[in-house]
Parts: sequence; structure tokens; C-alpha cells
Amino acid sequence: MLKYALAGLIALGMAATANAQTPIVIKFSHVVAPDTPKGKGADKFKELAEKYTAGKVKIEVYPNSQLYKDKEELEALQLGSVQMLAPSLAKFGPLGAREFEAFDLPFILPTKAALRKVTDGPIGKGLFKKLESKGIIGLAYWDNGFKVMSANKPLKNPADFKGLKMRIQSSKVLEAQFRALGALPQVLAFSEVYQAMQTGVVDGSENTPSNMYTQKHNEVQKFITVSDHGYIGYAVIVNKKFWDGLPGDIRGQLEKAMDEATAYSNGISQKENDDALAAMKAANTSTFIELSPAEKAEWVKALQPVYKEMEGRVGKDLLEQILKEAKGSGA
Ligand code: LMR
Repeated sequence: MLKYALAGLIALGMAATANAQTPIVIKFSHVVAPDTPKGKGADKFKELAEKYTAGKVKIEVYPNSQLYKDKEELEALQLGSVQMLAPSLAKFGPLGAREFEAFDLPFILPTKAALRKVTDGPIGKGLFKKLESKGIIGLAYWDNGFKVMSANKPLKNPADFKGLKMRIQSSKVLEAQFRALGALPQVLAFSEVYQAMQTGVVDGSENTPSNMYTQKHNEVQKFITVSDHGYIGYAVIVNKKFWDGLPGDIRGQLEKAMDEATAYSNGISQKENDDALAAMKAANTSTFIELSPAEKAEWVKALQPVYKEMEGRVGKDLLEQILKEAKGSGA
């Protein structure tokens, strides 16, 4: 009898200990490869968060659209099926946060310094505030880099885009950008781009070198134009209910880990993209096209109407504020 009572007590004790040690799990889902600025930032956050919380929090990172594709991941975050994401700023429009699409305007922020001023200042904070009513908290802005264009024909002048099916992220500004060039924009999830290129569903796309290289787009695109015509960056976001429900000390440690992971990710993003561009050039599967200043000026001119067309969507005031910051940064 005593033996059974003792065994029961031991089992209870073990259950209680296991319970006390059950970590809080944060699923961090993203769509790119681990070997990218975002992938490395997510892994760095995991390392730091688990260290600072002494194992009380476990971060499960799911790269490469393993859990969700582009649109689904935002819905999953709102439902609480995943706790943390870092979607590109171009993907917030369908949520109703159209202001984020301002970052998609062609040639809007010519340097990272200009961009940092916008995201780290009141504009960046104001944009995060808009997410709260959607059950989302914005924690940080992470860089990827400036975009290049790819296609199966050389893209040197604006007229070269005419009639081409170009893959875009789900942003109305990107849609307007390609329409201004006479192309036919097609929204596709990131994980579907390689196959769409391979089978001719699309003729080309735009992306950062790190995304193109890690998805092997250069193997199925004959030409890449180093246009730097726009920017891809991310908002690291969490489910608000989950985040607000965390014990304060844990949340503090996670914020510290996020600050450091942000500095790390933003610190490596330029080199990651430079290295990816060099690796694609070395692979020699695509011909690279550089634009002369006069050719670039032609692109800027052809894309200028997108600003007027989209000011109603992203907000005229916001647009003016961003342009003012960009100017103030000496860019
Ligand atoms: C894309 O969908 O093209 C990229 O923005 C994916 C990403 O998250 O970088």
C-alpha cells in the first residue's frame, strides 16, 4: 500500500517538475532559405532568445515556406497558429495595412541610411501602431536589400518590359510599377516562383540577389539587370494576444534578443547580397546587365507616374514624410 502511495507521489512530483519545465514555444515561420539575411536573423534570434530565457522559451524556426506560404502565414499569425513571422513589407496590403506598400515605390529610398531613418524613426513606429488593431505587434524592421530584375530577355530600357509576365509580391504598388513599364504583373507566392520561371508561367521577376541565388532563379533566367530599383525589407511581427500574455520578464528577455538579432541581421544584409550577386555571376548561368546613369535615368522617368498613381493608396502625407526623410539623409 505504502509502496503504491509512494510511487504515486513520485509520479505526481515528476509531472509537476515536467510542467514547470515545459517551455513556452514560439513558432517563427518564414518563406526564404536559412542562408539569407532573414533566415540568419531568425536563427540568431532563436539562439539569443533561448539563451536569455535559460530554456524557458523554445523558438522553432520554420524556413522555406515549410509551414505556410506568403498569404497563409499572415492569416495563421492572426489565428495564433504561429506566433512570429517576418513578412516583407510588400505583403501587408492584403491585411489592410496599405501604407507599408510605400516602401515598394521604385527608387524611393536610395540608400540604407535613408531607409534606416524612416524605419527607426516616428514613421516606422507609426506604421507598427496600425497593426495593433489587426491583432499584430511589430517588433523590428529587418533589411534584405535592393532588388534586381531578371527575365529571359535583356532588360536594359523601359521598353524591354513590354508584354512580359513579371512575378510580383501581393502589392498594388508593385503591380503599378510593372504596368507603368508595359509588363503584365502576376502575383505568385515566393515558393512558386522557381517553377513558374522554369515552365514559362512567368517571363521574369524582381528580387534581391540573396533571394534569387538561394532559390536558384539564376538557373532558369537568362538575364539579370542590376537595377537596384527598389527595396525588400521585413517587419518582424508577433501575435498580439500571445505577446501580451507572456510574463513580463520573459517578454523583456525576448525583446533584448530581438534587438540584438536585428542589429546582427541588418549588419550582414549588404554583404549577404553582395556575396549572392558575386556567386550568381560566378555561376555564369545568366548574363548580367549593368545600367549606365543615362539608362537608369530612363527607368526613373518611366516609373515616376507610379508615385502620383499610388499616393491615394499609401497616403500622400506618408509619402511626403518619407521623401523628406530620404532628402534629409543626404541621399
Ligand atoms: C518575395 O516574396 O519575393 C520575397 O519578399 C520573399 C521574402 O520574404 O524575402
